[in-house]
Amino acid sequence: MIQPDVRTVELDRNSRERLRAGGLDYRRVDPSDEAALDGFIRSIARGFIEGEPTEQMVAGSRPGQVGRRLIGVYDEASPQAERPVATVGSWVAPVTVPGGELPMWAVSEVTVAPTHRRRGIARAMLEGELRAAASAGVPIAGLTASEATIYGRYGFGPATWQSRWTVDTRRAGWAGAEPEGALHYLGQEAAAEALGRLHERTRRTRIGDIEGWPVRWRQLSGAKPGEPHGESVRGVRYLDAAGELRGAMVYRIAESDDDWARSRLEIRHLIGETPEARAALWRFALQHDLVGTVTAGFRPVDEPLPWLLDDARAATRTIEDHGWLRILDLPAVFAARRFAAPLDVVLRVADPLGFADGVWRVEARADGSGRATPLGGAGAPHASEADGSGVDIEIGVAELSSLYLGGVSARSLAEAGRLRGDTSATRRLDAALRIEGEPFLSIMY
Ligand SMILES: CC(C)(COP(=O)(O)OP(=O)(O)OC[C@H]1O[C@@H](n2cnc3c(N)ncnc32)[C@H](O)[C@@H]1OP(=O)(O)O)[C@@H](O)C(=O)NCCC(=O)NCCS
Repeated sequence: MIQPDVRTVELDRNSRERLRAGGLDYRRVDPSDEAALDGFIRSIARGFIEGEPTEQMVAGSRPGQVGRRLIGVYDEASPQAERPVATVGSWVAPVTVPGGELPMWAVSEVTVAPTHRRRGIARAMLEGELRAAASAGVPIAGLTASEATIYGRYGFGPATWQSRWTVDTRRAGWAGAEPEGALHYLGQEAAAEALGRLHERTRRTRIGDIEGWPVRWRQLSGAKPGEPHGESVRGVRYLDAAGELRGAMVYRIAESDDDWARSRLEIRHLIGETPEARAALWRFALQHDLVGTVTAGFRPVDEPLPWLLDDARAATRTIEDHGWLRILDLPAVFAARRFAAPLDVVLRVADPLGFADGVWRVEARADGSGRATPLGGAGAPHASEADGSGVDIEIGVAELSSLYLGGVSARSLAEAGRLRGDTSATRRLDAALRIEGEPFLSIMY
């Protein structure tokens, strides 16, 4: 998989001009300029409604910015000239798709200072990232969202979901098998290393997951300096009966003021290479002494937890969108994934930003390979001669991006009026895009 160096991809001129017209300077942040990098990091903290970071916290965040494309928007009239009024950071990460992986333009650290909100700065930055990604030949963009209302307008659609669990340990019991392996505590650095190693070994088995990076694991394990509650995070590993590392978990316990014996164990990250390892780590959490409640977020929607308990109702679950995708190069993304059934449909895709706009024939063969071709011949995505006639499904690029991994059905979108098409075409599209299990992105970025 070819990955461009995002740091050398040119800044989008259109966005720069638009922001300049509003008296703002849209420019790259040089990570080797410590004052500029620290201002960028401090602006991100402010944007995400955190307090002013300590020196130690800023130092702890610097390594996470290495290799990223960092862009700040500066207001020269601001008395804090080194602090951008808006930020965005991006890099290219492989994302697992059915049957393979794709380079994905990961968009992160999107903030606009409350003093400069709602004047089009985020729009300029997001559109700038998408045009930069397309110009670099990256076929898809992705992000995780603080709110579900922000990114649909740029063509992103939710493509993976996370479940959040709350378990009453006094009711839960345990109906799963007794693990045959062993659990051991790990120091925070060792826990970060184990999480990273297991993630890299397993991410290609999770459709929708992306490559991780060391600072993410150190943040989860509490090893990142200045991490809130970092000192109270503990890590454990699971070795199978043969002594192989198969799982790791980091968690913290929030003591209960009312009843110390009913404290809350918060799982920050749990990863297992095998079902046995995942069950062993859940069991460890649920049977922990002095704990009355276990919580966990960023878990797959098809987590088998209730089936591991004596009382399935001891576990309650909420589901939320998590990973959002945005198709940029439609032929590239459809050529990259495997299909579960043969397909031949014509899609009219509406993309206000133009990248995937047009009428496309999407075909899949019995061997699982597929392709999308613009109707009217190669290089003619706006096929005027295909207008109206022969179109099976009309869909927006955000909805198509939601369908792409196979985690949502075209039938649901049709029922909600989010796509239009005849029932037979919708059914065939669903059959072709179907995957085993639910797509799952295990981290936030
Ligand atoms: C979300 C955020 C980046 C938006 O920045 P902004 O510069 O005010 O946004 P813009 O002015 O470019 O708005 C563009 C469009 O998005 C809409 N919009 C912006 N923020 C929105 C929100 N939180 N919910 C719904 N719509 C929103 C605007 O109304 C506008 O709509 P329109 O194009 O239909 O007129 C900013 O409010 C912010 O920093 N929030 C806190 C940090 C955060 O949550 N960042 C996102 C991380 S994933």
